[in-house]
Amino acid sequence: MNQAHPGRTTREGIRIHSDADFEGMRKAGQITAQILDEVAELVDVGKTTGELDDFITRRVTELGTTSATIGYKGYQHASCISVNHVVCHGIPGDKVLKDGDILNIDVTVILDGWFGDSSRMYVAGKLPRKAERLIQITHDSLMKGIDAVKPGNTFGDIGHAIQSYVEAQRMSVVRDFCGHGLGRVFHAPPNVLHYGRPGTGPRLEEGMFFTIEPMVNLGRPETKVLADDWTAVTRDKSLSAQFEHSVGVTSDGVDIFTLSPTGRFHPTY
Ligand code: MF3
Ligand code: CO
Ligand code: CO
Repeated sequence: MNQAHPGRTTREGIRIHSDADFEGMRKAGQITAQILDEVAELVDVGKTTGELDDFITRRVTELGTTSATIGYKGYQHASCISVNHVVCHGIPGDKVLKDGDILNIDVTVILDGWFGDSSRMYVAGKLPRKAERLIQITHDSLMKGIDAVKPGNTFGDIGHAIQSYVEAQRMSVVRDFCGHGLGRVFHAPPNVLHYGRPGTGPRLEEGMFFTIEPMVNLGRPETKVLADDWTAVTRDKSLSAQFEHSVGVTSDGVDIFTLSPTGRFHPTY
């Protein structure tokens, strides 16, 4: 352990983890990434989101992990699958994928008590030009947020990096959902906002674990939750995209726990 007082929490209630804890997060994150790699093979025109979720449910168990989402606040599936104008928390089911649909698949597993939370975009059939641009900007905004992760920077620096990049492309950042601390719990302080002003918010310290998971819309940022109490959609029905990584702050930067072992995080394969 090379950082000061691992195991403590900051004034904002953010836990400071030890070197050994990083190893636990890496292992959990790698299983999540492997499942997201594998499901890419199945995404296709004619498939239902329920079939994709069935595969994920099976792989979560086969790989020796448990699903963090099954049973979470009454949620019953191993993934959230959010198609087109669905912003997040889409419930897998009978929906059949059509040519040109874009979808986010979000998976969280628990391994040895550690949570690995990640999501990516996928395409059924041929990727429409407008959707391609949205996916590219959303992916790059996450990576710009991650670039701002190092001790001494603030959470506002992360949000600002994402927001300024997205808005310069005339797209919008969703305000109604945010990233979160995680570790041995699914959702912990702080709320990781994907917008903000430089130098504001809690200061980043070595040993903090959290997700960054920007949702970006082609139209306006407002969302609404459907009658199923989960599915969040864009109010203006515009397309939405999201990418998510679980990360840890190291002595001089960032450790991305959920990097793809086969380099497939971004759907240009
Ligand atoms: N994985 C989501 C996140 O990024 C949370 C999903 S909760 C569920 O925080 F219940 F909808 F699955
Ligand atoms: Co998350
Ligand atoms: Co997630």
